[in-house]
Amino acid sequence: HVADKRSFRHFMLKEIHEQPETAALWVARHLPEVVEGEATPLVALPLAAEVFEGVERIQILACGTSRHAAQVGAYLLEQLAGIPTSVFYASEFRYAPPPLSPHTLTIGVTQSGETADTLAALAMEQERRRLVADPAYRPRLLGITNRAESSLARMVDHIFDIGAGIEVGVAATKTFLGQLLAFYGLSLAFAERRVGQRQGGVSSGRSREELKALVAQLRQLPQQLEALVADHDQRCASLAHRFEGTQDVIFLGRGINYPIALEGALKLKEISYIHAEGYPAGEMKHGPIALLDAKVPVVSIAMPGAVFDKVLSNAQEAKARDAQLIGVAPECPDAELFDVLLPVPAVDELLSPLLTVIPMQLLSYHIAAHRGLDVDQPRNLAKSVTVE
Ligand code: G6P
Repeated sequence: HVADKRSFRHFMLKEIHEQPETAALWVARHLPEVVEGEATPLVALPLAAEVFEGVERIQILACGTSRHAAQVGAYLLEQLAGIPTSVFYASEFRYAPPPLSPHTLTIGVTQSGETADTLAALAMEQERRRLVADPAYRPRLLGITNRAESSLARMVDHIFDIGAGIEVGVAATKTFLGQLLAFYGLSLAFAERRVGQRQGGVSSGRSREELKALVAQLRQLPQQLEALVADHDQRCASLAHRFEGTQDVIFLGRGINYPIALEGALKLKEISYIHAEGYPAGEMKHGPIALLDAKVPVVSIAMPGAVFDKVLSNAQEAKARDAQLIGVAPECPDAELFDVLLPVPAVDELLSPLLTVIPMQLLSYHIAAHRGLDVDQPRNLAKSVTVE
């Protein structure tokens, strides 16, 4: 039976360890071998041209962890492909949708394909668009899910199956990575179609060379994850005792790693019952800094890129308030700033969430396991919430 823990203590830990395989399958399925002299597409996705053609705007509806994947996705769709993209909590969207926009692709992200709020929000969007005569407003719905036979799949015309295999742990891990990878595929496919297109005189996306370089780096992901999961499993296990009396943790990240800070905080809340907040590092001074003292650890995701120096100086400010500082950052001279470093290789910033999520998962897993909690079945939570 698929639901076998093998030698792992919990399903969540087993599923964290399955992520290199999730990535390897994605690479094998969606990154075609480059043949010298032949024009191969950068990515191969099992999606009809209708998903891509003439799309001018994207809106993404999701709940919980799936919404964090959507936020990384929106960053990629905007920065890589140049398509204005908004992310909504499905439960908010269904009662207060934005005014209708033309040429819009609506994406529903739900691992289970059964989350009531996400399905209802998608149904509402489909319905209101069907009532408009102008074909520019016709409904175009894409579902990203791990369950190709779900209610979601029956509702929408297009499905991206992340194919991560059954996930038993209530806290999503490998399906989150699968959703992230679906968005990397989708945004690369959009970006490739838009290479050379210009909007208002400026190029809206990336050049083909830049996209090719990202794809080449993505091929390294399975090996990088293999090493990272093994290494961080050890490191986080030996760190867990430091959090015995902890009641609050702040997670900071910026740019494409801001949603990873949100996901780190959500994971910790879900399985360890420690209060945690994810914040964009630049906003710390507008509130959370008031909470900081020696009793409130700060996890700072600081990956080289556009705002590296800024994130490091935010971390410095936290340290000045006596906070215990845990860095998710590459080995570099600046890394001495951290009390504890969970080292992550310095990949292209755009790809870094695929790696920085690993310490988030393992840190919360080991803190909860160390507390003796039921990691796979946290109190009050369900794997999928099929009621409003
Ligand atoms: C529940 C689970 C979360 C999950 C959310 C959305 O709240 O406990 O882990 O992220 O539902 O689930 P979905 O199946 O729509 O991705």
